[in-house]
Amino acid sequence: MTSTSPVQGTSAAASSRETDAAIAAAVATVRRNIETFGGSFPGDTTVDDRYELRPAEGGIGEGGNRGWTTSFRTGMLWLAWELTGDAALHDAALGDARDFERRVREGEDLDTHDLGFLYTLSTVAAWRLTGDEAARSASLLAADHLMRRFLEPAGIIQAWGDLSDPAQRGRTIIDSLMNMPLLTWAGEQSGEGRFTDAVRRHTAQLREHIMREDDSTFHTFYWNAETGEPLRGATEQGAFDESCWARGQAWGIYGFAMNYAVVGDDRLLEASRRCADYFLRHLPADDVPFWDLVYTDGSDAPRDSSAAAIAVCGLLELAKVESDAARAAEWTARAHAILASLIANYTPAAPEDSDALLLHSVYDLPKDNGVDEGTLWGDYFYLEALMRVARPDWRKYW
Ligand code: GLY
Repeated sequence: MTSTSPVQGTSAAASSRETDAAIAAAVATVRRNIETFGGSFPGDTTVDDRYELRPAEGGIGEGGNRGWTTSFRTGMLWLAWELTGDAALHDAALGDARDFERRVREGEDLDTHDLGFLYTLSTVAAWRLTGDEAARSASLLAADHLMRRFLEPAGIIQAWGDLSDPAQRGRTIIDSLMNMPLLTWAGEQSGEGRFTDAVRRHTAQLREHIMREDDSTFHTFYWNAETGEPLRGATEQGAFDESCWARGQAWGIYGFAMNYAVVGDDRLLEASRRCADYFLRHLPADDVPFWDLVYTDGSDAPRDSSAAAIAVCGLLELAKVESDAARAAEWTARAHAILASLIANYTPAAPEDSDALLLHSVYDLPKDNGVDEGTLWGDYFYLEALMRVARPDWRKYW
């Protein structure tokens, strides 16, 4: 596969004063949201730029810890604590982590590959930052639960649903790359090879089948769970099956780079580079993608700023593992330019104007869910991006 040089963006990097001001504004919003929500969880996205309590569903009450996005709030609290040293932020983060411990022990809403997102940013982060033993054992339980979704002989972790659900059987999605670090961590902690083996096999299957010849990606891909035969790509949240969903491509940059760092297979590094090249070549003039990369300058389709924030973190991670120094410098420069555009053009004019740190994201446009709103993951990755730029030695939670 060819890797052509991406088209240069137009934005310059933010100055350290602009980055510090962006961090101060973001942390002010994180603090205000603690006062608003306490130990209850907000919804996946804002509604008219305001977070509301997470709706009740499946026997879990309003504001309860369910779904795949609650840990992004926890991750933001850990980041904000690391940035400020404020004990109130630490206590709020640890309070969330305790609820994640309860969630896994009580077996509440665990039928998802997103246990990786959920437990990496809550209890694994708690353990990494404080050495908390209860958080460590809950993280191992979550990793063990995630392993139940590993399908032989396909060698993949099924993404969604009950394993017997025929609509979801044998299906995985590019986002799943971000769930692998929980298994990698569990492998390191337990010394059990089954975790790292699953990471190696799952990432190899995605590299082989979810990536297309032109370096774009399918959002989801089906395998025959009984024979292991790869079947077909399909979208869930993109414009159409053959389109390239912007956030999926960003998950690919970050996910392939992180998994390359632990698996050591050069083909995963190449996959991350290919995702990055394609993503960067399809950015509009202000460096923030439309929600699907089929749209380009001149379109009035909504942007997905969350995909941009994920890509910033992914490009900076790719730069860390990149073996070619010139390319590493290029990934870093492009990441800084995208972040500068987010700071300048996609944040509230004043923190009190919105509960979101980052405006103008899209959750699921085909289902008209969270279009042109703030999102918990967009907020988290924006703050992670700011942390990575302000403190290049920051130790990631993944
Ligand atoms: N992982 C689900 C999403 O990115 O919308």
